[in-house]
Amino acid sequence: MKEFHVGVVGATGMVGQRFISLLENHPWFHLTAVAASPRSAGKTYKEAVGNRWAMTTPMPEVVKNMIVMDASHVEAMAKKVDFVFCAVDMKKDEIKALEEAYAKAECPVISNNSANRFTPDVPMIIPEINADHAEIIPAQRKRLGTKRGFVAVKSNCSLQSYVPALHPLMADFGVTKSLVCTYQAISGAGKTFETWPEMVDNVIPFIGGEEGKSENEPLKIWGKIEGDQIVSAKSPSLTAQCLRVACSDGHMAAVFVSFDKKPTIEQIKEKWASFSGEPQELNLPSAPKQFLHYFEEDNRPQTKLDRNLEKGMAVSIGRLREDTQYDYKFVCLSHNTLRGAAGGGVLLAELLAAKGYLD
Ligand SMILES: NC(=O)c1ccc[n+]([C@@H]2O[C@H](COP(=O)([O-])OP(=O)(O)OC[C@H]3O[C@@H](n4cnc5c(N)ncnc54)[C@H](OP(=O)(O)O)[C@@H]3O)[C@@H](O)[C@H]2O)c1
Repeated sequence: MKEFHVGVVGATGMVGQRFISLLENHPWFHLTAVAASPRSAGKTYKEAVGNRWAMTTPMPEVVKNMIVMDASHVEAMAKKVDFVFCAVDMKKDEIKALEEAYAKAECPVISNNSANRFTPDVPMIIPEINADHAEIIPAQRKRLGTKRGFVAVKSNCSLQSYVPALHPLMADFGVTKSLVCTYQAISGAGKTFETWPEMVDNVIPFIGGEEGKSENEPLKIWGKIEGDQIVSAKSPSLTAQCLRVACSDGHMAAVFVSFDKKPTIEQIKEKWASFSGEPQELNLPSAPKQFLHYFEEDNRPQTKLDRNLEKGMAVSIGRLREDTQYDYKFVCLSHNTLRGAAGGGVLLAELLAAKGYLD
């Protein structure tokens, strides 16, 4: 595989730090530039991050003395890299404009932000599920007037456990409706217990905008390309309630589901065990070997014990049983800043690189 020079925009933040950690020793992607707000620009990365380094592994040596660039200096940044990962905390319209500016500077953007998720020709990809949505990229390039540049996004972290769990059941059994309640870690808000002490010993029953994302983004992922846009699926019917809980990392979901043709418990477990997608077929560097793991123990998955399964890129499922209102209920878990953010972004970039979109 060709090697690529890579930049991280929003490099000093929680997701940006994950990108920096994941890119250390990556076989294809080499970190050559970092950018953040004007507050950080001109400082070394180490100075700019200061005491905000929130990873459990040390800051990689290669980035410590890199000078942080101003993210709005698009041409200067684009000159240094083949593509960028983007995870910034800015207003939606500003993020949309920033991402489009990088694309127009012929610098592809792999984004963790929500701003472009519903732009009709921007693919929102979970690589095991809808890798084929990358085929919309030529239509987007036509709109932007670019040869290389485009924006591809990954979906919200809240749905990275239950969408993969429901997906393998859809074709044969027809998922008609699902109710989910998520229990989301504080790193999903870019926070730690030090920076958000109110969360110690607490649950907050509101995460702004999260329920809409949790209900609507899956339908785009399950949608189809029609002409120059991706049209969202009309079903299944989804309803979500999202809670912030006192965990550092890892989003859990309690899921209820009904089917057109109700499968047996054994059939569901078999679909999960045998499910794989293009990342596994292409043997991408960040792909988990087994994407969906089912735990037979009654008290698993647990956030603290299971979030790092397969380097935080797998989904853990457990407690599958019949329900009185829906056909079945179960719980599932994914690591929100790994599979749910930076890790999912790196896997998406690997998929696009393997398919030639980053050449
Ligand atoms: N945390 C998660 O689990 C998660 C999961 C999925 C998606 N996301 C999304 O990823 C994005 C970043 O989240 P986060 O948790 O990493 O946030 P964060 O920790 O608050 O970091 C925000 C980053 O944005 C930069 N930034 C702020 N204002 C800027 C500006 N005007 N121009 C350029 N850069 C600016 C910051 O730079 P300075 O350090 O210079 O201020 C910092 O690098 C958000 O859109 C979030 O919704 C997060």
